[in-house]
Amino acid sequence: MSTQPPSDALVLFGATGDLSKKKLMPALYSLERHGRLTVPVIGVARSTWTDKDFRAHAQESILAAEPDADHAVIESLCKRLDLVQGDYADTATWDTLKKKLDHHRAEQAVFYMAIPPDIFPEVVESLASVGLNQRGRIVVEKPFGRDLNSARELNATLHKVFPEDKIFRIDHYLGKESVEDLLVFRFSNTLLEPIWNRNYVRSVQITMSETIGVEGRGSFYDGVGAIRDVVQNHLLQVIALCAMEPPVGPESSFLQDEKAKVFAAMRSIDPSYLVRGQYVGYRDEPGADKDSTTETFASAKLEIDSWRWAGVPWYFRAGKALTAAATEVVVEFREPPSLLFDEGGGPPAGRNLVRFRLGKRDGVTFTLQAKTPGPHLDSQNVDVAVDFAAALGERQEAYERLLDDALAGLPRRFAREDIVEQTWRIVQPALDHPGPVHPYFRGSWGPAEADRILAGDTWLAIST
Ligand code: BG6
Repeated sequence: MSTQPPSDALVLFGATGDLSKKKLMPALYSLERHGRLTVPVIGVARSTWTDKDFRAHAQESILAAEPDADHAVIESLCKRLDLVQGDYADTATWDTLKKKLDHHRAEQAVFYMAIPPDIFPEVVESLASVGLNQRGRIVVEKPFGRDLNSARELNATLHKVFPEDKIFRIDHYLGKESVEDLLVFRFSNTLLEPIWNRNYVRSVQITMSETIGVEGRGSFYDGVGAIRDVVQNHLLQVIALCAMEPPVGPESSFLQDEKAKVFAAMRSIDPSYLVRGQYVGYRDEPGADKDSTTETFASAKLEIDSWRWAGVPWYFRAGKALTAAATEVVVEFREPPSLLFDEGGGPPAGRNLVRFRLGKRDGVTFTLQAKTPGPHLDSQNVDVAVDFAAALGERQEAYERLLDDALAGLPRRFAREDIVEQTWRIVQPALDHPGPVHPYFRGSWGPAEADRILAGDTWLAIST
């Protein structure tokens, strides 16, 4: 299914940065361990590091993520590492990089941009200045723009030197097994698909809650906020997988086409159904402005004007410093036509739920009704749950899968240009008319105002 030749080198811009340390080095280690890394890895960075420093940094990053890592594997990974040190504005940096790739006879490199977005244009233009845009594909980290206009500008900048099929836009949620499972679960189980529509589904709730705050990322986060950080990308991608029509086949273009269709049918956020919050103490975080109105919590209602979903509310809430760490999609079904089994007069029967747990302990839970023991005909909730780690065994981390795909030339788990632009169109009114930011306490479920968007419903409990 590879639509592009496999790569013969990995060039890592921002090799000494935070993303490289926390995600990319551990992912490279894991690829090496599984025998899937076969190419040289050339770091590019502005620091004054030597090759030796770079290798020591790699080792340290891997051991921080995986204290029991195999030293022999780290060593073989380190042998692949090479550093080009220099200023991005200096033509010598690009000449050196080109010479390294010539030395490795690399013609299909992956250029991975683990760098701040404001320097993407400079880096892609410099790559083109030495002809390297003809010798590989580019992987671009989020945030992909700040709004619809800047995303369009960024796409235009990239398209000047790379064709669309050579641009791999990363959203690490697309690399999560549990997120991809939404698609498989929906379209491989006959049980679900006939009821997956407005006739049976009452509402869908998506919660992306983190217990951590901004954790030293204040200076990045303060200019971004929850809507740009997780709603425009991760959360909308999850919704698309839950709402889209079946793709014609597993090829990337079929999947992307169906996502594009569901986003096209999704209304832009109505600011009167938007609630933004900020945890108390956020303004004291290093890097945050003392008067910051950046949201660390966002909640809204989304609507999809399609034959499948018209009239079904899609509620979401996403925030930091909340009471639980969970990423869940809860699909709530309508009640049966009448409640026959209520002889004992106990609590009213709950509605059926399908709960996709996408976070750490991922899996699926069906909440069904079963007979309450005793003489009366009464029903009560029972959960039928599967824990994917227990049932399916070890699975790869998102970054490992995405790096593997980028190296293999598989575009399926990356975001296409039109989809990124649609998602910005959907959140744009929330950026243009953000309204007030409501304070909330750490360890809560966010500001109480978030209940308002449910119009009489309640947030369903999260299974922590
Ligand atoms: C990142 C955001 O993209 O996703 C972070 O920048 C957020 O702020 C993270 O914490 C959440 O990812 P995960 O995989 O931990 O759910």
